[in-house]
Amino acid sequence: MERINDLLNHLNNSWHESVLHSRCFIGTHWEKRPSATTIGVFFVFLFFGALVFVRWNDASIFSYLSSERSTYKTPSKQEFPLKCTNTNLTQTCPKDYPTKHNPTYPSNVTCPSYFRWIHEDLRPWNSTGITRDMIEQARRTAHFRLVIVNGKAYVEKYRKAMGTRDMFTLWGILQLLRWYPENLPDLELMFDCDDSPVVPSRDFPGPNTGPPPLFRYSADEFNLDIVFPDWSFWGWAEINIKPWEHVLEDIIEGNKRIKWKDRVPYAYWKGNPYVAPTRKDLMKCNVSDKSDWNTLLYIQDWDRESKQGYKQSNLADQCNHRYKIYIEGWAWSVSEKYILACDSMTLFIKSHFYDFFIRGMEPLQHYWPIRDNSKCSSLKFAVEWGNNHTEKAQAIGKAGSNFIQEDLKMGYVYDYMFHLLNEYAKLLKFKPSIPPGSVELCSEIMACPVNDTTKHFMVESLVMSPSDTLPCIMPLPYDPLDLKDYYERRTNSTMLVEMWENEYWGNINKK
Ligand SMILES: *[C@@H]1O[C@H](CO)[C@@H](O)[C@H](O)[C@H]1NC(C)=O
Ligand SMILES: *[C@@H]1O[C@H](CO)[C@@H](O)[C@H](O)[C@H]1NC(C)=O
Ligand SMILES: *[C@@H]1O[C@H](CO)[C@@H](O)[C@H](O)[C@H]1NC(C)=O
Ligand SMILES: *[C@@H]1O[C@H](CO)[C@@H](O)[C@H](O)[C@H]1NC(C)=O
Ligand SMILES: *[C@@H]1O[C@H](CO)[C@@H](O)[C@H](O)[C@H]1NC(C)=O
Ligand SMILES: *[C@@H]1O[C@H](CO)[C@@H](O)[C@H](O)[C@H]1NC(C)=O
Ligand SMILES: *[C@@H]1O[C@H](CO)[C@@H](O)[C@H](O)[C@H]1NC(C)=O
Repeated sequence: MERINDLLNHLNNSWHESVLHSRCFIGTHWEKRPSATTIGVFFVFLFFGALVFVRWNDASIFSYLSSERSTYKTPSKQEFPLKCTNTNLTQTCPKDYPTKHNPTYPSNVTCPSYFRWIHEDLRPWNSTGITRDMIEQARRTAHFRLVIVNGKAYVEKYRKAMGTRDMFTLWGILQLLRWYPENLPDLELMFDCDDSPVVPSRDFPGPNTGPPPLFRYSADEFNLDIVFPDWSFWGWAEINIKPWEHVLEDIIEGNKRIKWKDRVPYAYWKGNPYVAPTRKDLMKCNVSDKSDWNTLLYIQDWDRESKQGYKQSNLADQCNHRYKIYIEGWAWSVSEKYILACDSMTLFIKSHFYDFFIRGMEPLQHYWPIRDNSKCSSLKFAVEWGNNHTEKAQAIGKAGSNFIQEDLKMGYVYDYMFHLLNEYAKLLKFKPSIPPGSVELCSEIMACPVNDTTKHFMVESLVMSPSDTLPCIMPLPYDPLDLKDYYERRTNSTMLVEMWENEYWGNINKK
């Protein structure tokens, strides 16, 4: 319980949309604004909700399919499940996992455009390279040092991270090593699992200042932290969110249940409003007797969720509104990808933080930009616009979901990690060495001793055998003109929406 309260209080960005609540909510909505559609939706939902529940319970924990690119799946491929010793002998790393992989297919696919930001994130070290000294400077806030030598991982832990963040991040890196054995060069890096970036760019002006290279899950325009995929791609055990690959399958299935036009024509958000002032501010927009901003907001009840064992949590049940709101927490929010995957138009409240993939998404194409300084009127306009232009709103929702379903599938998450680490390693000016006294970390060492809840997620996200392909082809860096164009395009579309808003509210105020 304390853990949950910790999560609630200190943290984070923790949101969580659940479940169940969408059911209660449809109930509520139905009381308020009865309509044949919503009543229909309600029953359809109950019915499929039950089905999904059964499916989740039945899901075998060994059902993980390692191959992301199903077209390249070779059924006869040898698999390497975990080998846990059942005796009191200390767990060791098995020696039979392939140390080479022989891709059956070449990779002739260029990576999605967000990979170009790898070049930008590493640009501060482009002329100086990365020295051991710079890395030691990053130790100040790091939770762990990761060393990879000859395709094996070694870790030096410095402090306890929130929940299972560090554990699942390391798990993810171990899976990367199973996915592409032998391809990763030797490297050493510092990882900080907290939310807020801490390497201010103003302290390191210019190309030769040698900032400390520090990996974390999100950064912003004022900091030089290097962004890396967050732990939830391998599951968020504390709150029963399955590994991304499985959640994504569920959401894709879930999206088929209620057609966009039959979804509740409101903006929806559920989460923890206490983590950041901007979220508290959002709460003012909830529908009430006095005002209707076309927005329905719900507070995540962690206590209730944990008492119910999160059993009925299923993100796929959340896709029953036409519009879903994304709002940052302390930093980026893990909720982002689940919200964007819904086929609903995402109303993206201006965020100061970015994670590794969001820079590939564009306002008006993949989501609708919402002001952060006038949320309610901006939301109301967006929903009304969408309900007036259903085809367009639906297309934006679909484009956002396609991006998440295609460009952010697990194969590309591994490719991103691969290319980032590979480019990073090229910059190292010293030979990485195994920290004295540290032992090899492998999937067995991590997964065999942990409790069943944690193990369940690890087994589900275990990479069973090496990839059949090489990583996608890294796109070239932006040239300065491209980059200028990139920023201008987003400014333009955001300003366009703000202009429409001003016009709309101007007319209303005139009346
Ligand atoms: C293993 O350890 C447990 C508890 O420490 C002990 O009860 C058990 O007898 C041991 N088994 C073997 C085979 O040594
Ligand atoms: C890429 O590979 C696929 C599958 O091997 C092949 O069908 C396709 O023609 C190739 N494309 C290019 C541009 O080489
Ligand atoms: C880094 O510098 C090299 C030349 O020193 C250049 O070719 C490369 O494009 C630069 N990378 C970036 C991301 O600017
Ligand atoms: C928002 O309004 C809905 C519908 O009246 C209500 O059920 C919900 O509890 C409200 N949310 C908050 C955060 O007050
Ligand atoms: C939606 O359509 C109604 C009726 O045509 C119009 O009055 C309203 O201004 C429109 N709102 C938006 C945001 O397009
Ligand atoms: C299982 O282990 C995880 C990670 O150490 C921990 O957060 C969680 O509380 C444990 N769960 C149970 C039921 O003991
Ligand atoms: C942004 O808008 C300006 C002014 O309308 C226009 O000149 C410019 O070409 C636009 N830029 C992009 C990238 O679309």
